[in-house]
Amino acid sequence: KVLILDFGSQYTQLIARRVRELNIYSEIHPFNKIPTNLNDYKAVILSGSPFSVRGESALHPDLSEIRAKKPLLAVCYGAQYLAHFSGGEVAPSNTREYGRANLSFIKNEETFFKHINEGSQVWMSHSDTIKQLPTKAILLASTTDVKNAAYKIEGEQTYAIQFHPEVYHSTDGKQLLENFLVGIAGLNQDWTPDSFVEETVEAIQEKVGNDKVVLGLSGGVDSTVAAVLLNKAIGNNLYCIFVNNGLLRKNEFENVLKQYEGMGLNVKGVDASQRFLEALKGIEDPEKKRKAIGNAFIEVFDDEANKLEDVKWLAQGTIYPDVIESVSATGGPSATIKSHHNVGGLPDFMKLKIVEPLRAIFKDEVRRVGATLGIDPELLGRHPFPGPGLGIRILGDITAEKVRMLQEVDAIFINGLKAWGLYDKVWQAGAMLLPVNSVGVMGDERTYEKCVALRAVESTDGMTADWVNLPYEFLQKTSNDIINKVKGVNRVVYDISSKPPATIEWE
Ligand code: XMP
Repeated sequence: KVLILDFGSQYTQLIARRVRELNIYSEIHPFNKIPTNLNDYKAVILSGSPFSVRGESALHPDLSEIRAKKPLLAVCYGAQYLAHFSGGEVAPSNTREYGRANLSFIKNEETFFKHINEGSQVWMSHSDTIKQLPTKAILLASTTDVKNAAYKIEGEQTYAIQFHPEVYHSTDGKQLLENFLVGIAGLNQDWTPDSFVEETVEAIQEKVGNDKVVLGLSGGVDSTVAAVLLNKAIGNNLYCIFVNNGLLRKNEFENVLKQYEGMGLNVKGVDASQRFLEALKGIEDPEKKRKAIGNAFIEVFDDEANKLEDVKWLAQGTIYPDVIESVSATGGPSATIKSHHNVGGLPDFMKLKIVEPLRAIFKDEVRRVGATLGIDPELLGRHPFPGPGLGIRILGDITAEKVRMLQEVDAIFINGLKAWGLYDKVWQAGAMLLPVNSVGVMGDERTYEKCVALRAVESTDGMTADWVNLPYEFLQKTSNDIINKVKGVNRVVYDISSKPPATIEWE
């Protein structure tokens, strides 16, 4: 596997993705927490960074166990780091070195640049530049503006590049990573969903042995794939609990429960709708709702888990982006916009050890693993749905009647998307019940009823999103259906805000 040392670049996750796309397993670790089991890693990549190597805040890890001992690829900050502290010189650059550039020189016959030709487009993003290469460096490539765009160190398998091979705009970036990882470091491209399943099943067996494990199923892709993996590893020692918080989609609880049973999972459905409604009574503030729902979930889950004897482990469907997000939410530089409670949200008093089989992989990889495990493609293709469910799509306070109303609206919208072949073109869709009454006219009567907003977005990870240009005919039909069929709604609007500056959910 490959070790990626993170210096805080916004692109570090992309490096991991590209490496995985080459069917090579990689892990990101913070630059100052170099793993002790270095023998397990066959190559190391240093990421970029928002810091400058010249500043007082320069990140300065001890690479003595890595440098010259393992194949090393230093990207951007990494390249400057190797230059600055090993006899070279880094200085502020005179020209802005951001965005597109082209390689104007490539040293002949370098494995590192195999299948890459002069003129290849690369992406730059840096304000310092390497004025002078470090000791024993050999220049490998230049662009028109950046002379020292790539170099290697003589007598070592150490390579450094000023541009970012991990971004899509570096056209041959993936080839370059392949050249380094396969051609130079000699890694095998054998990391596939099948091998992941095999390794993970073994790892789970080794970790939990004959212990009992409890897991909360949500109907979503992540918890489902985690459950099937664990089931494969430990069979009926896995106890799944599927809680109906009363804020799920229409008929979701019954349908998904049936589906789980059909998959041979040892699952108990717990209908706690009333308990959640009680807990939410009168609460209007979005964050307070999240907390109330989160706490109610913990109570219900805990009650159920306590009914099981001798459970030692709690399994969770945490995936890699959750891990990264919760790192930044607890002490990182980024602000907490919404308190998603999926990670680390379980109480200490449960005293269970945690097993998270999907912790190291991305959403698209989870889907690939799920497909390998034979999970129904329809289930794997489901849109993301927030843990607090319709609770954060009913603006203002929540009542049973509002939930029912929104479930009807949502079902018409989602079923419509499926019927029109639009569901898979949309990353996430749903409806919001607004705390607004507006005047309408039905027959000869004045109405004064609720307004709902429909939202459909395209996105890759939920971090940024744009609204989907759904056909007018579809919107027209959907709006008619909703107003005609759902009592209490007399107006439908479509949300055309992007994220940022809006968010996907309204609360
Ligand atoms: P926002 O609204 O922040 O949503 O743009 C981004 C993605 O996260 C989901 N979301 C949540 N998921 N608990 C969850 O499990 C939450 O509290 C929560 N809030 C938002 C949202 O549905 C979208 O996919």
